[in-house]
Amino acid sequence: MSTLSNNPIFCAIDTPDTSRACALAESLRGAVGGLKIGLEYFNAHGQAGYQKLAAFEVPIFLDLKLHDIPNTVAAAVRALAPLQPALLNVHASGGAAMMQAAADAAQEAADQGLRVPQLLGVTLMTSLSQADLPQMGVAGTAQDQVLRLAHLAQKNGMDGVVCSAHEIEILRAELGPDFKLVVPGIRPKGSAAQDQKRVMTPQAAQQAGADILVIGRPIMGADNPRQAALDIASELNG
Ligand code: C5P
Repeated sequence: MSTLSNNPIFCAIDTPDTSRACALAESLRGAVGGLKIGLEYFNAHGQAGYQKLAAFEVPIFLDLKLHDIPNTVAAAVRALAPLQPALLNVHASGGAAMMQAAADAAQEAADQGLRVPQLLGVTLMTSLSQADLPQMGVAGTAQDQVLRLAHLAQKNGMDGVVCSAHEIEILRAELGPDFKLVVPGIRPKGSAAQDQKRVMTPQAAQQAGADILVIGRPIMGADNPRQAALDIASELNG
């Protein structure tokens, strides 16, 4: 299935174990709107592993957070294009030329009859808090930095950004209704934050205007992942 459904939950399949990943994909059929494949699974199993999950015919967010010189990122996007993920991301901090090169390479996929992924710029990781920024040489607030990178992403061919729920309202106001806001750091009431710092509940993030909620451990770590996903979905609109 190539189109995004009404269910905004994308479950992060963060495991190096193919059998577990496939069992999760099977159990989550109809309970989530998509699956997110990230560095852990993709680095363990590559494109063959990706195809195993794609066989479940749900939209896939390929979360590889590409970040390199423009030529290399464009080449990586070309190499990934045949997988036809629904969403693919790069680090917005890679800069204007890098994002533009990624967008141009994604468009080339269309010429080959491939579905072009929606491209997202990662702004500031949800595991970072205000206190981390000075050490990274970033002046100002986390919100300033996210806004700056989101504007840069929008100007340079990105269809949306990955951001924390805390920036949704301001991004929605400044970047308009069509710019995709994909939000990790989601924690249902009572879930541990773990390494995530800028967190919010699924309902609050949706009400603030998130398009996609990326949820990993609160679903994957539950005794019954399908039920955990259904419980979260039942509290969301649409
Ligand atoms: O388990 P948890 O719900 O924290 O998983 C969040 C997922 O979203 C992880 O796979 C992580 O790599 C990803 N992610 C994130 N922050 C970003 C971008 C992606 O946590 N800025």
